[in-house]
Amino acid sequence: MKRSVIDTVDLSVEEVQRLLDTAMDIIAQPEKYAHACAGKKLATLFFEPSTRTRMSFEAAMYELGGNVISMTDAGTSSAAKGETVADTAKVVSNYVDIIAQRHPKAGAALVAAANASIPVINAGDGGHCHPTQTFADLLTIYREHSNMNGLTIGFCGDLLYGRTVHSLMAAMARYEGTRFVLISPEELKVPRHLIKDVVEPAGIPCEEVTSLEEALPKLDVLYMTRIQKERFDDPAQYERLKNVYVLDAEKMKLAKPDCIVMHPLPRVDEIAVEVDDDPRARYFEQTLNGKYMRMALILKLLGWDGQSLTGAKEPAETYPGGPFSLWTIAEEDPAYKCGNPKCICAAERSIRHKYYIAKDGSRRCVYCEQ
Ligand code: NCD
Repeated sequence: MKRSVIDTVDLSVEEVQRLLDTAMDIIAQPEKYAHACAGKKLATLFFEPSTRTRMSFEAAMYELGGNVISMTDAGTSSAAKGETVADTAKVVSNYVDIIAQRHPKAGAALVAAANASIPVINAGDGGHCHPTQTFADLLTIYREHSNMNGLTIGFCGDLLYGRTVHSLMAAMARYEGTRFVLISPEELKVPRHLIKDVVEPAGIPCEEVTSLEEALPKLDVLYMTRIQKERFDDPAQYERLKNVYVLDAEKMKLAKPDCIVMHPLPRVDEIAVEVDDDPRARYFEQTLNGKYMRMALILKLLGWDGQSLTGAKEPAETYPGGPFSLWTIAEEDPAYKCGNPKCICAAERSIRHKYYIAKDGSRRCVYCEQ
């Protein structure tokens, strides 16, 4: 088991800073990195749709001089025959040097990481985490503010299922003076475990509101999100909530002159096209920043020493921060069952359910953290 990244907090704040520095260096002198991964291969295993994440991972590896093998449609792979995530990870470890995986079930990335013999990067596991989108977000904020401290961030939209929100909250909670304004309908509030595990221990001032207009004037960053249609059990509820927030030029008048607008994309209707011309819009720049940060992350996990790949991959237990490290403290008890229907445990019968004891003393599933 090699060091993998399930969420941003699997890296220390210092390591994240080094990724930001590497990305800035790649932007400044791309030629230095053009052959850095020569002879190395990345597999992109996408069990769920993607444009930006998969293509930017692949562009990242090509720009590092490496090669890519891609699985873009689970329907054409052995997953369609019932092959498990664990077996797929063991098999693909024989062909490539590093894996980027996206899967519709929470915890699928940890299952892959625990079974692969090479580093695994989570490219999105259900509604759980999406660390490389967060790295793109952090570079976007960093290029704007250079100091990550003291920012008020408003998250707006589907905060329940939006995995990019969960990962960015965990990442920003580690910077000093961060404040959160969580803007969502009652039905789509941030999962309570994030409030308990991330917001409360860090002592972050955090408001939960329903009005975007009221929140806007306070924000340094507005992070808009799509209502995650594919994660709703009840289509009628999606229909009712889908247009609950629409940011337009009129509402942008309420925002500070230097409040940047971010969105992981794809957008549906939550940001009117007219906002694209606002100098505060950053969502297309975010997609480019994603490529640079994925380059920096691939280099790190393959053992980049600043000049070349050492080949020395880091051991799994390097930093005890995030969901990846939970594996090392996970316990088993035949009586314990994860009850979350959106967890990989519910989808694959061969998985041995494991738990850890959370800060509040409760047992949580090691895969989905619920
Ligand atoms: C996000 C995702 O897949 O979670 N997209 C992305 O990776 N840029 C956001 C979304 O799908 O709404």
